[in-house]
Amino acid sequence: MQEILVLYYSHRGSVRALAEVIGRGIDSVPGAAARLRTVPRISAVCEAIEADIPERGAPYAEMSDLEECIGLALGSPTRFGNMSAPMKYFLDGTAGPWLSGALAGKPACVFTSSGSQHGGNEATLLSMMLPLLHHGMLLLGLPFSEPDLAHSSGGGTPYGASHVAGANGDPRLSDEEIRLAVAQGKRLAKLALKLS
Ligand SMILES: Cc1cc2nc3c(=O)[nH]c(=O)nc-3n(C[C@H](O)[C@H](O)[C@H](O)COP(=O)(O)O)c2cc1C
Repeated sequence: MQEILVLYYSHRGSVRALAEVIGRGIDSVPGAAARLRTVPRISAVCEAIEADIPERGAPYAEMSDLEECIGLALGSPTRFGNMSAPMKYFLDGTAGPWLSGALAGKPACVFTSSGSQHGGNEATLLSMMLPLLHHGMLLLGLPFSEPDLAHSSGGGTPYGASHVAGANGDPRLSDEEIRLAVAQGKRLAKLALKLS
């Protein structure tokens, strides 16, 4: 079994819900398994106060997760049209894998959740691709051959799976958002297996 890393940060649960559905898509591909990992919150003193094990969700990621997996799905909430600080902080600590080329040539995709549909959802996905290109990763999105992409009234973009959580941050995914997230996980797993 070859593993695909689903690495995410989620504060209120929407991105975690997407991560779990993308993981289901990955697991549905024979020979592929999802490895879910998260990153800690940050503050000026974060590393001193966070417990080693998160209260809920996946374990914290380590550099070895990046090295061992054959592909990566990266998820973050939208924060002012960009990825969240905890995910950016984690990525800023990946100079080691960058120098060794641990991720070069591996496929990757991105996913997000935002409050509103036009609140920077797609800008966040595009900006999340930039560090992955520096790592030499091969990016894939969602094709319009997925029927839900043209009809979704919530999340789901050609740049990656997404959820629109609304003003109250509702983490419940719509059926369309779920189908698109599963499709993204499957697509990533199939390509990663071919390339590995
Ligand atoms: C500091 C902050 C900034 C945010 N910026 C945006 C934004 O630019 N656009 C938007 O649509 N939602 C924005 N949101 C809402 C979150 O993206 C949204 O609630 C998301 O679903 C949270 O994901 P999570 O449940 O995985 O934490 C922001 C939330 C916070 C706390």
